[in-house]
Amino acid sequence: MTHYTTNNEYAVVNEYAGLASEYDRRWAFYIEATLRETLKRMDLTSHASLLDIGCGTGSLLQIISKNYPTVKIVGIDLSMEMLKIARDKQIKDAALIAGEARCLPFRSKSFDMVVSCNALHYLRNPEECLSEIARVLKPQGRIVITDWCDDYIACRVCDVFLRVFNRAHFKTYGRRACELLLRNAGYSNVQVERYKINWLWGLMTAKAQIPLHVQKRIVQV
Ligand SMILES: C[S@@+](CC[C@H](N)C(=O)[O-])C[C@H]1O[C@@H](n2cnc3c(N)ncnc32)[C@H](O)[C@@H]1O
Repeated sequence: MTHYTTNNEYAVVNEYAGLASEYDRRWAFYIEATLRETLKRMDLTSHASLLDIGCGTGSLLQIISKNYPTVKIVGIDLSMEMLKIARDKQIKDAALIAGEARCLPFRSKSFDMVVSCNALHYLRNPEECLSEIARVLKPQGRIVITDWCDDYIACRVCDVFLRVFNRAHFKTYGRRACELLLRNAGYSNVQVERYKINWLWGLMTAKAQIPLHVQKRIVQV
């Protein structure tokens, strides 16, 4: 597939080729906690169009499809193996597409909301990806990102370890760094909330909006 261009993206593809069949079972607690916390903060409306970046095995899309059957849902992921598991779930009316976050195969202003869970720490060029997400969001469209939060010590230790031993991993962020990433990419109404999902592990969910003046600068493709 021609879009797997960087070493990091190859590493992600390899990582999840090995993990996909075990992913839902092995990470059940973590997936459930992430999706619960993310859904709580999404304020989804029933007629929205939604893109899930790094949708993996489609757990979030499956819940949304069940609870909001009129939401138009699209998932994109680098890993064909993760997408295969998602497709086997036969999520009603979900389009599941192979692709990468920094080059989204969608027209500008296509989605009311872009969501991403547990994928930010893989992105080697987060600024580029956030600008690309801004392009595909409609005016006043919203982004919701949940990922590990390295304000928590366990996450910081894990980040250091994975940077050395796992080629797929890039880096984690704390609340302030995440806010800055979003502001620098031109988002407004940036809010990042951090929280623990058990005694050890902490996540953060970032919410922001694409302001009208950024939309005006985006070239229609
Ligand atoms: C930890 S899994 C999370 C899956 C799902 N969102 C969840 O929370 O269960 C990370 C996913 O992000 C995908 N991913 C990583 N980098 C990506 C990129 N640049 N573009 C698209 N997907 C990416 C991986 O293939 C993997 O399926």
